[in-house]
Amino acid sequence: MKKIIEIKNGEQVIIRHIDESDIDGVWDNFNEVIDEGIYLPVLFPVKSQYEKHSWFNSLKKENEICIVAIHPEKKAPKNILGQCEISNSEWDAAIHIGKLGVIVKSDFRDIGIGYHLIDFAIRESKRLNKKEKITLSTFTENQRALHLYKKMGFNTVGIRKKQFFMNSRYYDEILMELWINDYLEKNSD
Ligand SMILES: CC(C)(COP(=O)(O)OP(=O)(O)OC[C@H]1O[C@@H](n2cnc3c(N)ncnc32)[C@H](O)[C@@H]1OP(=O)(O)O)[C@@H](O)C(=O)NCCC(=O)NCCS
Repeated sequence: MKKIIEIKNGEQVIIRHIDESDIDGVWDNFNEVIDEGIYLPVLFPVKSQYEKHSWFNSLKKENEICIVAIHPEKKAPKNILGQCEISNSEWDAAIHIGKLGVIVKSDFRDIGIGYHLIDFAIRESKRLNKKEKITLSTFTENQRALHLYKKMGFNTVGIRKKQFFMNSRYYDEILMELWINDYLEKNSD
């Protein structure tokens, strides 16, 4: 299953499930966000091929969702403009819950790729994994992510004060969730 979307700069981008050949591009995007140092509570980039491939193998084994945005004219790994993962809850009794994470390459932000990645991932997590509710968290300072999540209908369900300590300061974590059926009712295909 894949979708071709037109982003705000008029270019076309392919939205589809991850392939093994996308692994390096996905981790390059992750490592870029870690270098930026203000968006994720992770301190060290992931460089080892073993770690990258273990993540991919586990994703496939657990049937978790990872959607990628592909620039059709760029070569791997630079063709991966962003990714959205919906992973399973760690609890046996919460298989109806998906945990969402999303990253878009810095040069391609604010042109709608994040929105399309999340939209596709939510729909696929219901269709393939019968997920009912999506949860996520972000730093309270992450205004771009918060704007997007609220626009898509995520509700704030709590704030964990000073949940992270990075670069000599604390960050509050905001917890959000979205019922997929509510989303689909408001956003018919
Ligand atoms: C958060 C992220 C995934 C969003 O992806 P994206 O492709 O930039 O998202 P979109 O272009 O679909 O939407 C961004 C929206 O934020 C808005 N925005 C940008 N900066 C903003 C700001 N400072 N305050 C409020 N809104 C802002 C844009 O105008 C756009 O809204 P609109 O479509 O209503 O005009 C991406 O920016 C990213 O990877 N950021 C770094 C990593 C990150 O924060 N990941 C999430 C951690 S939980």
